[in-house]
Amino acid sequence: MTEHSTHLISSDKPIVTVSSVDYRNAMSHFAGAVHIVTTDGVKNRRGVTISACCSLSDNPPTVLVCLMRQHEENRIFIENEKFCVNTLAGHHKNLSDIFAGRGGLSQEQRFLQAEWGTLRTGAPVLSDALVALDCQLVGWHIHATHYVLIGEVVAVKTHPGIDALMYLDRNYRTLPLI
Ligand SMILES: Cc1cc2nc3c(=O)[nH]c(=O)nc-3n(C[C@H](O)[C@H](O)[C@H](O)COP(=O)(O)O)c2cc1C
Repeated sequence: MTEHSTHLISSDKPIVTVSSVDYRNAMSHFAGAVHIVTTDGVKNRRGVTISACCSLSDNPPTVLVCLMRQHEENRIFIENEKFCVNTLAGHHKNLSDIFAGRGGLSQEQRFLQAEWGTLRTGAPVLSDALVALDCQLVGWHIHATHYVLIGEVVAVKTHPGIDALMYLDRNYRTLPLI
C-alpha cells in the first residue's frame, strides 16, 4: 500500500444506490460556491465553470477538483500539470455561464470576456476573482465519469469584501457579506 494509491472497496453483494435523477435532485439542495478552473501550458488554455471543488488539507495546502471525462478537452488539465481555481464573486454570473459553454463561444473568445493574469504556475488568474488558488497538479484519478484532480496550492490571491456567487436549487444566488 502506497501513500498515494487509490483503494476501491469491492463487494460480492450488489450495492443498491439511488437513481441519478434522485441524486441530482438531492444535490440541488447543496449550496455550492462557483469557480472557473483554468489551465495553460504545453497544451491549450482552457477554463471550465465548476462547483465540484473542495479543500483537501492545509498541510500541504491542497484542493480537490472533479471534472467530467465526457468533455475530452478536460484531459488538458492533466497534461498541463497545473490549474488555477478562480472563485467567482456575485457579479460573475454571466462569466460563469460563458465558461459553462452557454452561448457557444470558443475557449479563446471566453477568455476575452474578462481580465486575466498569472501567479506562479502560469494558469490564468481571473483579475477580480474572490480568491484564486494557483495549483501544481500532484495527483489525479479516474472515478467512473469523472477525473479527480488533486492540486497543491503554490500561490493565492484574494479580493476580500465582495459578495460570493453561489449555486443552489439549480440557480445562481448572490451571498452578501451583510
Ligand atoms: C454552476 C455549474 C457548476 C458546474 N460544475 C461542474 C463541475 O463541478 N465539474 C464539471 O466537469 N463540470 C461542471 N459544470 C459543467 C461545465 O461547466 C460544462 O460542462 C463545460 O464547461 C462545458 O464546456 P464546453 O462548452 O467547452 O464543452 C458546471 C456548470 C455549472 C453551470
